[in-house]
Amino acid sequence: MPIQFGPEVNRAGSDSIKWKRYANQDILPMWVADMDFHVAPEIVQAINERSDHGVLGYGSDNPELMNLIVDHCQKHYQWTIKPEWIVLTPGVVKGLNIARAIAAKKGKPAGITALPVYPHLKQHAPIIEFENQTFLANGFDQSWSLNLKEMAQNITEKTGVMLLCNPHNPIGKVYSKQELTELAQLCIKHDLIICSDDIHCDLILNGKPHVPIASLSEDVAQRSITLMAPSKTFNIAGLDTAFAVIPNPKMRKQYSEYMYGLVGHVNIIGSQAAIAAYKYGESWRLELIEYLQKNNQLIQERIDSIKGISMRPVEATYLAWLNVEELKLDNPQKYFEEFGVGMSAGAEFGDNRYVRLNFGCQRSLLKEALNRIEKAVQERVLNLGK
Ligand SMILES: Cc1ncc(COP(=O)(O)O)c(C=O)c1O
Repeated sequence: MPIQFGPEVNRAGSDSIKWKRYANQDILPMWVADMDFHVAPEIVQAINERSDHGVLGYGSDNPELMNLIVDHCQKHYQWTIKPEWIVLTPGVVKGLNIARAIAAKKGKPAGITALPVYPHLKQHAPIIEFENQTFLANGFDQSWSLNLKEMAQNITEKTGVMLLCNPHNPIGKVYSKQELTELAQLCIKHDLIICSDDIHCDLILNGKPHVPIASLSEDVAQRSITLMAPSKTFNIAGLDTAFAVIPNPKMRKQYSEYMYGLVGHVNIIGSQAAIAAYKYGESWRLELIEYLQKNNQLIQERIDSIKGISMRPVEATYLAWLNVEELKLDNPQKYFEEFGVGMSAGAEFGDNRYVRLNFGCQRSLLKEALNRIEKAVQERVLNLGK
């Protein structure tokens, strides 16, 4: 079956949060992180077969899925895990909040993370009361290396969890083994739980290896909750299917108890989609990576050619972090909307000098978005010069 990255996909009227925001407006939706691509045909088939069964009661952990996850971690990250370490979780954000709740229960309600970062790493679910939260003003130095010294200074006796995003949304960074080792040493020194959100780890565009921080040593593994999912990679985020890998049995038990009480379990359709993704989706994923690499190259070349805007090279994800500081805008996101491009506001991630562009879309749409971005930047530069 042909893989459909090329042809137009019409998402209007499909309850897509991304497309609904700008329904009936001439604004291209390039914000929330899902892609405008049809999923692999084998995933559609697996979903259809499950629904054809006709009974959709509660599911349970599927041993085939657990074994596929174990094989996936071994093959792609040389990380040896056991099926019993896996807790299927209905979404990564829920896993982040459960990790926060575990730390809070230990009397350490504050989390620490490197800003700018995906909003749910820096803020907890509003129903959970955490006092004394400490977050980092600037997690990176000029060369986008982790600002470990500043991180250490921000850790207090109330800090219980390090929230890592690897690869890092929104800056598109893939952490090296060396960087992760230094970060892990800091966590061990301060006895922090490490909750690593690795949701984008199968979307590496520059060939760097993904290193799950928990794979570094037994000591690190025992304090880690690693969150992964087929959702971003295979474009099935609407199915709420993710998993946590938790080698420490006590922490795993606590995580499972909180999860069942608060957010329930992965649904049966999502499990079947995940099985199909890991079993049959590799050639689709490789084609996707190629398509995204070309989109990424196109953005980099265009942005490099426009005065007044710049970007950090994207190593992973389908998200470009665009620096528009020179344009001196109070609300950059709104400004670009006025020119017909709906991106994510940098402020949501902790830095108002940026906007985030989702390039998981057809190239024709991306080209049009880049034309509009260029026009918006040129007009502003002109106005500033007057
Ligand atoms: C880093 C990161 N974590 C988690 C999520 C959301 O995960 P889920 O939909 O499984 O809760 C996203 C979505 O954009 C993300 O970028």
